[in-house]
Amino acid sequence: MFTSPADGYDRFMGRYTRTLAPELVDATGLDRNARVLDVGCGPGGLTGVLAGHVGAQNVAAIDPAPQFVAACRERHPDADVREGMAEALPWPDGVFDAALSCLVVGFMTDADHGLREMARVTRPGGVVAACMWDLDEGGMTMLETFWAAARRLDPDVVGERMRVGVGRGDIATRLRAIGLRDVADGALTARADYADFDDFWEPFTFAVGPAGAYLAALPADHQEQIRQLCRPLLPDGPFTLEARAWFARGIVPPLLLDG
Ligand SMILES: C[S@@+](CC[C@H](N)C(=O)[O-])C[C@H]1O[C@@H](n2cnc3c(N)ncnc32)[C@H](O)[C@@H]1O
Repeated sequence: MFTSPADGYDRFMGRYTRTLAPELVDATGLDRNARVLDVGCGPGGLTGVLAGHVGAQNVAAIDPAPQFVAACRERHPDADVREGMAEALPWPDGVFDAALSCLVVGFMTDADHGLREMARVTRPGGVVAACMWDLDEGGMTMLETFWAAARRLDPDVVGERMRVGVGRGDIATRLRAIGLRDVADGALTARADYADFDDFWEPFTFAVGPAGAYLAALPADHQEQIRQLCRPLLPDGPFTLEARAWFARGIVPPLLLDG
């Protein structure tokens, strides 16, 4: 699902990370000298914003996709970028002041275990924060447009509504369940500019994420039908799409046990 080159990801989803990541960092609340971890860093959109905030030498990042790890290392050579999964973080207990993940919990094999791992490597009193697109109430316009068109062709299409974290309050509920304190949640707003409809459509053909993978598995005539169904849903000429993400953060208590 995330086997595409970094530049394909940049055009599909990274264009939203540019505005989402600063919102996530602000909502998390980080000291300027904090040591921070970016879980599921992809090509490094959030990693770069964290580096701008606390200095790249204070940033660690991890992702299972080797081409994203390579891109993130190249873009942020002073950060500690590793290949691996949230569910088995290769750092000792309590070494970070904060662990963040941007658009990742819904892709973890075991999201609750991944969130517990983020809490384990964060010191007591530190922060764990995560966000995922609102795919339940349709707040992520780009993906909502695509899945609405796909459902007109096949009403049984599930889309991404079943993923962890995409419903209001889900991440916060999970953070409370793993024992974090003072959990706060809300919505973040990102946006992306498009030159025209082709600029919107072409990145779907790069097979990035669930929507791209779904499209790539369809016969060419069905792909073209979805494209044509999307077309009238969007303006002519340049346009900007907004995207809402659900966000939550919680404080690591003393003696949170590894689970
Ligand atoms: C939608 S991308 C988000 C990338 C980046 N955080 C951003 O905001 O642009 C999802 C990322 O999660 C990564 N991922 C998938 N499963 C993971 C897991 N179990 N642990 C950590 N990262 C994972 C993927 O490789 C991909 O880079």
